[in-house]
Amino acid sequence: MTCFINAVPISVNLQNRPRHVRPGEAAKTNRTRTGVFLAGCSCWLLILVGFAGELAPARGDSPLARPTDTSRPDEAPQLPEPKTHYMGREIAQTMHFLGAPWLVRESREREEDCKKLLTALPLKLGDSVCDIGCGNGFYTLRLAGRVGPNGKVYASDIQQEMLNMLVERAKSRQVTNVLPVLGTLVDPDLPSASMDLILAVDVYHEFSYPQEMLAALRTSLKPTGRLVLVEFRSEDPAVPIKPLHKMSQAQIMRELPENGFKLVGQFHELPWQHVLTFARDDSPLPEVPLQAWNLPD
Ligand SMILES: C[S@@+](CC[C@H](N)C(=O)[O-])C[C@H]1O[C@@H](n2cnc3c(N)ncnc32)[C@H](O)[C@@H]1O
Repeated sequence: MTCFINAVPISVNLQNRPRHVRPGEAAKTNRTRTGVFLAGCSCWLLILVGFAGELAPARGDSPLARPTDTSRPDEAPQLPEPKTHYMGREIAQTMHFLGAPWLVRESREREEDCKKLLTALPLKLGDSVCDIGCGNGFYTLRLAGRVGPNGKVYASDIQQEMLNMLVERAKSRQVTNVLPVLGTLVDPDLPSASMDLILAVDVYHEFSYPQEMLAALRTSLKPTGRLVLVEFRSEDPAVPIKPLHKMSQAQIMRELPENGFKLVGQFHELPWQHVLTFARDDSPLPEVPLQAWNLPD
């Protein structure tokens, strides 16, 4: 019980990490700095030699005479400050990778009835799907089985450490149709118009750039693709999860239609979670009215 109440035992403030900088790029930045330092030394040497009369190129002939290029094409665009609140809701902090064992706890299947959720998902062999905010891959590996060897599961997360754990788990189970993707706080880095389904379990409430993430997810959906949000029910006091990590149906319905989605399905049979399925608002899939979830009598 204590474990559930501390559902997200440790959180991480990824906003303090440089945005759009991936682990490999940090090394690249250091290499760049070293290169700039060496280039700087060489420049001084050339200038000194030039002043000594050894170097007298015509103006414009030497690279040194070129106008300085002030554009920095490799620099990431400036983002607005991450949100702390969105449409009246406080955004939860990202669950830290050190809390990952909680995601694969032995009791999860029973508490969340994960098999029932997987059976309810409209999936077929060969589908391309994404597990957004995949963590250490609890659902990724199950989705991989559902879409079969000709299907693909893009597993996107913002913490490399989570992806590393997922890769280890996939290897040990000989799962080969998973593509780990290191996304950023604003971009899951998915191909456009190619997802049949995006599964977002217990992650949407952590998006610190909800509008940017929803826009990117929408772009990655096929016209008939679906985004399935699974969130702990905040209307239900019996769900032993911290309030910040729960969402109400009403709140989800305030945020998704505002960002270009329509409701195309819902599933009320999980013990703790809402399952609301959305499509792009220009999708041929028919919109359905929301059936309000009520506390059982
Ligand atoms: C509570 S865990 C849920 C993991 C997984 N969905 C599951 O149910 O086992 C939330 C995960 O979402 C990830 N996350 C948070 N914000 C994200 C974003 N903007 N894009 C992708 N992943 C994100 C976190 O790094 C963390 O691994």
